[in-house]
Amino acid sequence: MSPVSPAPFPAARMRRLRRTRALREMVQEQGLRPADLIWPLFIREGTGIEEPIPSLPGVNRLSLDRLEGAAEQALALGIPAICLFPYTDPALRTEGCEEAWNPENLTNRAIRALKARFPELMIMTDIALDPYNANGHDGLVVDGTILNDETVEALVKMGLAQAEAGADILGPSDMMDGRIGALRMSLESAGHPDVAILSYAAKFASAFYGPFRDAVGAAGRLVGDKATYQINPANAQEALACVARDLAEGADMVMVKPGMPYLDICRAAKARFNRPTFAYQVSGEYAMLMAAAQNGWLDGEKVMMESLLAFKRAGCDGVLSYFAPRVAAALNA
Ligand code: PBG
Repeated sequence: MSPVSPAPFPAARMRRLRRTRALREMVQEQGLRPADLIWPLFIREGTGIEEPIPSLPGVNRLSLDRLEGAAEQALALGIPAICLFPYTDPALRTEGCEEAWNPENLTNRAIRALKARFPELMIMTDIALDPYNANGHDGLVVDGTILNDETVEALVKMGLAQAEAGADILGPSDMMDGRIGALRMSLESAGHPDVAILSYAAKFASAFYGPFRDAVGAAGRLVGDKATYQINPANAQEALACVARDLAEGADMVMVKPGMPYLDICRAAKARFNRPTFAYQVSGEYAMLMAAAQNGWLDGEKVMMESLLAFKRAGCDGVLSYFAPRVAAALNA
C-alpha cells in the first residue's frame, strides 16, 4: 500500500479533496470516539472532597462519593473505562508496602462501591507499589536496591486483592520482570480467569510523570530515579522486546507510556504484534498542553483533539488521558 498518488501533477491535485468540509470528512482516515478513552482518576479518603492538583489543572483528587459522580459522568459520556490511582494516607506508606494488598484499602473499597452501582463501567487499576511505599518506588527497596522477585510476589497479592474486589482490568505499571506471567497464572488459579491484563509493557523512565507523582504524593518521597526498572528513552528495540515478552506471558492488551514522545513505539508495537495497543497520554503531556492553553499560547481545545487523534493515527486502539471527559463531551456535541 503506497501512500503516494501514482498520478503526476496536475492529474493528481491533493487539494481537490480538501476543498470543502464534506469532502474532507469523506476522506478522513482516522477518528476518535469516546469508546477509545480510558479516564485516569485520583482518589483519596474523606467525603465531599474534590482537591485540586496544582500541576494538573482541572484534575482533582476525589473522595469516594465524588468518584461515583465521575463514574456516572463517564457512563453518560460513553467512556467505557476508568482507571483508579490512590493518594494513600502518609501513615500507611511503609517500607513493606503492606497496604497495597489490604482488601480494605482505598482502591479496593472504591472498586467495590463502583461495581455495586455501575456494573457496566469497566474498572482498571494500577499495580505498582509507589502509592504505598515509604520511598516512592514501584518495587520493594532493600539497601538501596529494588528487588525484582520479592516485588513480583507483592504485586501478585495486590492484583489478586483488586480482582477479588471486582476490578475488570489490571494495569501492572511497575516494570518488574516476570510480573505478567506470575499475575496471569495466579488469576487463573484463584478463580479469576476473565480478569484482563493491560500491561504497561513499554514504559519509559520519563520525566513526564512529574505531575502524577505530585498527585499520588510520591514526588517528595522518591529516592533516586526509576532507571533500573523503566526503559531508557533511547531504546526502541528493548521496548518492543518488552511488549513481546508481556504478550507471551499473558497480557491481553499492551500500553506504551508516555504517549506523544513515543508515537514511534506505538506504531511499531501495533504493526509488529497487531494486538490491542494503548497509549498513556501522561500527566506531563496534559500539563504542558494545559499550561500553554492557560497562557493563551495554544488553543487548548484544538491541541487536545489533535494530540489524541495522533494516537489513533499511530495505530493505537485507545488512549488513557486526563482529557477523557472533556474530549468525550466535545465528540458528543
Ligand atoms: C506508577 C505510575 C506512574 C504513572 C502511572 N503509574 C508514575 C511513575 O512510574 O513514576 C504515570 C502516569 C502519569 O504521569 O500520568 N507506577
